[in-house]
Amino acid sequence: MTGTVAAIVVAAGRGERAGGDVPKQYRNIAGEPMIRPTLRAFLNHALVGVVQPVINASDAQLYRAATAGLEKLSAPVPGGATRQASVRAGLEALAVRAPDLVLIHDAARPFLSGALVDRAIAAGKSAGAAVPGIVVADTVKAIDGEAIVVETIDRSRLRIVQTPQAFAFDLILDAHRRAAAAGLDSFTDDAALAEWAGHRVSVFEGDAGNVKVTTNDDFDRAEILHLAGLADVRTGNGFDVHAFVDGDHVMLGGVRIPHSRGVTGHSDADVALHALVDAILGALADGDIGTHFPPSDPQWEGASSDRFLAFACERVRARRGIIAHLDVTVVCETPRVSPHRDAMRTRIAAIAGITVERVGVKATTSEKLGFTGRGEGIVAMATATIRLPWGGV
Ligand code: CTP
Ligand code: MG
Repeated sequence: MTGTVAAIVVAAGRGERAGGDVPKQYRNIAGEPMIRPTLRAFLNHALVGVVQPVINASDAQLYRAATAGLEKLSAPVPGGATRQASVRAGLEALAVRAPDLVLIHDAARPFLSGALVDRAIAAGKSAGAAVPGIVVADTVKAIDGEAIVVETIDRSRLRIVQTPQAFAFDLILDAHRRAAAAGLDSFTDDAALAEWAGHRVSVFEGDAGNVKVTTNDDFDRAEILHLAGLADVRTGNGFDVHAFVDGDHVMLGGVRIPHSRGVTGHSDADVALHALVDAILGALADGDIGTHFPPSDPQWEGASSDRFLAFACERVRARRGIIAHLDVTVVCETPRVSPHRDAMRTRIAAIAGITVERVGVKATTSEKLGFTGRGEGIVAMATATIRLPWGGV
């Protein structure tokens, strides 16, 4: 497939039906403002070269916070009073680049998949104007003013239409300019505008999961949908050992525990956190603590291990995953760990950004056997359970 593809994400609406403190596209779903995964779906797609957001001028600050760190995003342009005006603003902003194809998408549909973008591009290239549609499963009736049925509509002819809608760029820019010149400003989707301009609009297979978030209840449903999509459950294990040396405390699970000895090793030698980091990286199949924080690098000497755990957790979130559970076992004769168990759980949960119920801390001696039994060193073993989106990598 050749030709340049741009995407417009319209996000200038006020989200009046959803209500809330901020316009809905900036409200969180699964810990992220809704607009962020929407934009990311296009930014991550290999065939989409330009992503053009259209925002409300009064949301500039919300937009900056919501998109921090996203790369390859074009500077946002201000939208208009209607969705149609906002799309036109995006098209005019892209006119200088003159892409071959443009995908027009609502910020309020954050669940679009890469496969749907694939289908939109293919259908747009072959038809010039193409929209995703899903079949209607329910029986549909037309009623009169007294709610009396006047007709049962043949549902096999009906499609519920979504975005992204794909158009040859010149075709849709021209249609928008003509509609604006004719004083028409209330087309609710771009297909309707293309139909008005006399173009044939083709329908390709949409995606039932690509729902639009419109009302406050939709946020609850979206949250559930996101969680249900995290079906790729993975576990990883981690193991770490550090030797006792002279000193007056050990760091364990991010907690300073006074002791007659200290420990030596990488950074602050917190075996519990190091084992947890490796468990999480293991679940991601993403190297180990030494890959990301080489012990030979002087900047990690004496470093607090909190940042290693925070880093590993961020790697999970960057893949839109969650940490379902962390569990660690410490093996040593002394110090006694159980008096510090709850402090360790609380600290680990805070660093990982999860609730304390999702953190297990256990301790055992090795019955005076082996190097832990002789008090030469301390061991930690950990298991991490994470959930990633199904169909990810
Ligand atoms: N949109 C826009 N400019 C407008 C109106 C809407 O860019 N003047 C965008 C919205 O931000 C949204 C998409 O068009 O991403 C679909 O619109 P809708 O779901 O109706 O969102 P809102 O208009 O914000 O919501 P409401 O109608 O409830 O106020
Ligand atoms: Mg609206």
